[in-house]
Amino acid sequence: MPETPYIRLENVGKVYDTRNGTVEACADVSLDIREHEFVAFVGPSGCGKTTIMKMVAGLQSHTSGTITVGGRKVDRPQTDVGIVFQEAILLDWRDVLANVMLQVEIRKLDRAKFEPVARHLIEATGLKGFEHKKPYELSGGMRQRVSICRALVHDPPMLLMDEPFGALDALTREQISMDIQRVWMEKRKTALHITHSIPEAVLLADRVVVMSPRPGRIVEIIDIDLPRPRRLDQLPPRFNDYAQHIRGIFKAKGVLAMD
Ligand SMILES: Nc1ncnc2c1ncn2[C@@H]1O[C@H](COP(=O)(O)OP(=O)(O)OP(=O)(O)O)[C@@H](O)[C@H]1O
Ligand SMILES: [Mg+2]
Repeated sequence: MPETPYIRLENVGKVYDTRNGTVEACADVSLDIREHEFVAFVGPSGCGKTTIMKMVAGLQSHTSGTITVGGRKVDRPQTDVGIVFQEAILLDWRDVLANVMLQVEIRKLDRAKFEPVARHLIEATGLKGFEHKKPYELSGGMRQRVSICRALVHDPPMLLMDEPFGALDALTREQISMDIQRVWMEKRKTALHITHSIPEAVLLADRVVVMSPRPGRIVEIIDIDLPRPRRLDQLPPRFNDYAQHIRGIFKAKGVLAMD
């Protein structure tokens, strides 16, 4: 029997009403995401990636189609979710541990039970020793690690990441990608990861969803059949084949000029 998907998008579309008329952000997006699956979205700027993520989280309404998460229709903000945005949003007067524990406090969960979880995540993302530093004492990459810990501490079944490494330099991006992979392999959350980076998508995902320019539609979904852990210093030739294939799609759509 086929598995029922954890996240299901059926012909989902979004039209924004703005002062100067309507903007069709995405159209006809249909996709099933299995529980424990890691799906990456790549697509040009403005093709509706953030919109799709917000609609899955219930933070933005969809104007056509249906979205279900865990068998329930999404018609309000989801609570069983961890979200990482492009910019780490941290409270400056709270230290690292207290920023991670904010999630636990807001949800009125048991502090004593979740503090060891928070400490474990802090260690797993390379922040051990920084538990009592304030956000302004951290680098951009470290701040983003804190927001990843905060998104995971309450053990949500679903993790949504909107270009979480977008504001970081290339080296830090690579390091955090490895952290994400390690934490994901341990927790196996159903993950939806939005990125502009083709190699990052191939590195992390079970499947890569390639979007067209606005209104964003799914052009192709690519299964990434590479064993984990995937190591940046030991990538098999197939890694490059996948990346080149995706670049070819964007080239054909006029999104990437190669010459
Ligand atoms: N709240 C809003 N009101 C009106 N239009 C919006 C709103 N949010 C997004 N849009 C429009 O919808 C389109 C898709 O935006 P979205 O942010 O989803 O794209 P994106 O793929 O995430 O882009 P980027 O890669 O640059 O982050 C854009 O044309 C944008 O201007
Ligand atoms: Mg976006």
